[in-house]
Amino acid sequence: IYRAAIFDLDGVIADTARLHLQAWRQLADALQRPWAEDTEEKLKGLERMASLEVILGEKSSKYSTEGKIALAARKNSRYQELIRSLSPADLLPGASELLAWLSERHIPTALASASKNATAVLEALGISGYFSVVADPEMSAPKPSPDIFLAAARSLRIDPEFCIAFEDATAGIAAIKSAEGMTAIGVGNKETLAEADYNIESLTEFTPTDFFLSAIQAVS
Ligand code: G6P
Ligand code: MG
Repeated sequence: IYRAAIFDLDGVIADTARLHLQAWRQLADALQRPWAEDTEEKLKGLERMASLEVILGEKSSKYSTEGKIALAARKNSRYQELIRSLSPADLLPGASELLAWLSERHIPTALASASKNATAVLEALGISGYFSVVADPEMSAPKPSPDIFLAAARSLRIDPEFCIAFEDATAGIAAIKSAEGMTAIGVGNKETLAEADYNIESLTEFTPTDFFLSAIQAVS
């Protein structure tokens, strides 16, 4: 019944969630901001300025808008340094196999990442060619708004109810679940991603024939 696949990037396809966290952690330490047990989960999938607010916490009002922009830029420079060494070895398990499977069957595939660095990451991983659409985060409201997933579906010209979307963040699952009937696959921790329609540990557990059989029949 599904006709298209939409992917989050960081933590689903690419092993970059840890690099975002590393860069934020450095900033938090430099600003002497605490790093709580749930900080990691809170930061996942969150757009850059919203992430900075999590780091600043109750000290947020002490910083001017310009000051905050400078801090976010500082984190981004560090992140860009970290992704300079990315290569196809940083693809998460099952990602390239699944993308190749979809591509061989001409199943429309889109990226719905909040990251303004997404295009650079796709290039570094050598997988740009698999995506017919890369939704622009600058044009959409941040997750948990469904905006970016709806924009991806629209660009693919497939109704949301025929799209299956992959996410590793609670904010991302919430976004998919409010995207007009889109189906959410939670990749990672089952308990934290309990709102997803299906849960898998990694993309290696996903069996595409279970979901895209009709698409294959339509092609062949
Ligand atoms: C993704 C990541 C987040 C990151 C956000 C913005 O959603 O999961 O950790 O904060 O993108 O990334 P950017 O590269 O634009 O700062
Ligand atoms: Mg993610």
